[in-house]
Amino acid sequence: MSATPHAPSNPGTASTGPRTAPAPPPGVGPEALRRRALDALGAARSRTLGLVDCLDEAGLTAQHSPLMSPLVWDLAHIGNQEDLWLLRQAGGGQGIRPDLDPVYDAFRTPRADRPALPMLPPEQARAYVAEVRDRALAVLAGADPNAAEPLTRSAFVFGMIAQHEQQHDETMLATHQLRRGPAVLHGEPPPAAPAGERLPGEVLVPGGPFTMGTDDEPWALDNERPAHRVDAPAFWLDTTPVTGAAYLAFIDDGGYEDPRWWHPEGWAHVRRTGLRAPLFWRRDEDGRWTRRRFGHVEPVPLDRPVVHVSWYEADAYARWAGRRLPTEAEWEKAARHDPATGRSHRYPWGDADPGPDHANLGQRHLEPAPAGAYPPGQAPCGARQLLGDVWEWTASDFTGYPGFRAFPYREYSEVFFGSEYKVLRGGSFGTAHVACRSTFRNWDYPVRRQIFAGFRTARDAGPGEGAS
Ligand code: AVJ
Ligand code: FE
Repeated sequence: MSATPHAPSNPGTASTGPRTAPAPPPGVGPEALRRRALDALGAARSRTLGLVDCLDEAGLTAQHSPLMSPLVWDLAHIGNQEDLWLLRQAGGGQGIRPDLDPVYDAFRTPRADRPALPMLPPEQARAYVAEVRDRALAVLAGADPNAAEPLTRSAFVFGMIAQHEQQHDETMLATHQLRRGPAVLHGEPPPAAPAGERLPGEVLVPGGPFTMGTDDEPWALDNERPAHRVDAPAFWLDTTPVTGAAYLAFIDDGGYEDPRWWHPEGWAHVRRTGLRAPLFWRRDEDGRWTRRRFGHVEPVPLDRPVVHVSWYEADAYARWAGRRLPTEAEWEKAARHDPATGRSHRYPWGDADPGPDHANLGQRHLEPAPAGAYPPGQAPCGARQLLGDVWEWTASDFTGYPGFRAFPYREYSEVFFGSEYKVLRGGSFGTAHVACRSTFRNWDYPVRRQIFAGFRTARDAGPGEGAS
């Protein structure tokens, strides 16, 4: 997107009474909370450095796409947000470089124009983020996560900054994917789907109310709050995200040439831009499809979730298939409601933190796993891969839940509420655990394709199917 949400230089305008993190769960002492924050900040930083250390000075300062910032901008912006929120807001200090706030304020300069900013060169950016981190850890060591202070209660602001860094790491990963030139990133191949298993194409999610959003998750961001009951009628949902093979059938059937399938704005967009396939796909002279992935050209994988499609493409595919995109509420219900207990879980598989067997998260792999992988991560309704692999476009606009209050700053999400943005759910192979939950909400313009986005489709259940 051209304008990304970031903290303003002066975050004082936040809220009409913050909806803050809950008290830590009983038995979780200040030591454990500080340890959790320390680990999350450390994990984010190793990932950030991995994304910048593999490129030379020119690779870091170049703009690889007008949709993205130079990587060295993201790097120092990460440090500047930490300077603002951990050193100045939480720590009550002067910060290290408040003079840099205007350079790294995402609202002031759209991504396309950032190359012209007086950015810190790579070595200075590295030194800046390291010095901020040193001092931030001292603030953390002195913080009391059990006190009532809203920013530091349950170590919220430290978790928020770790998530912010990981979100930019995913953005930087998308910049790497756009970058031309030889491969510099490496990941192990993702796990296969279980051999010989025949999964149903769709699963039934029964009707009835469920709890959407959360009041209990300490590091949930403001747009995930408050918890509220939502009644969704029964519906059918694809068991897995839509695969390359299924998407190719749409292309081969002339899907991109038929206005019947497209939202009017999507059709206008296709006419204007000449889109014919997902971003990074190419058809050879002999008719075979290949794709470019982090510097490698390879055949389009048929068995894996399609990635790099816009909301308009997802919406058109669904209509072609006689189906529709799920709403955000439907997606969340499928991903966390357990009909056996009536409870909403943190993750499709329950409340345990994600492990490598649950979901394809955290940039361990540089692509989605085959559809049907990760059986231990399955949701109660039987859907697989709801978390990880690809972000999933939903039918819904990005809005605040009933009772929403911005915290700690309006520019994280509130200023984006409205009909311009569509919600994506579930995270991708490039999303970190700390920035991924069944309640987590992402959003982007419906034309965007550089993010690691795919989708799955849904349809209404018939009378008598899955009634509660
Ligand atoms: C939640 C991914 C839409 O990158 O624009 C980063 C996250 N907010 N800095 C974005 C974010 C402030 C945001 N998204
Ligand atoms: Fe940011």
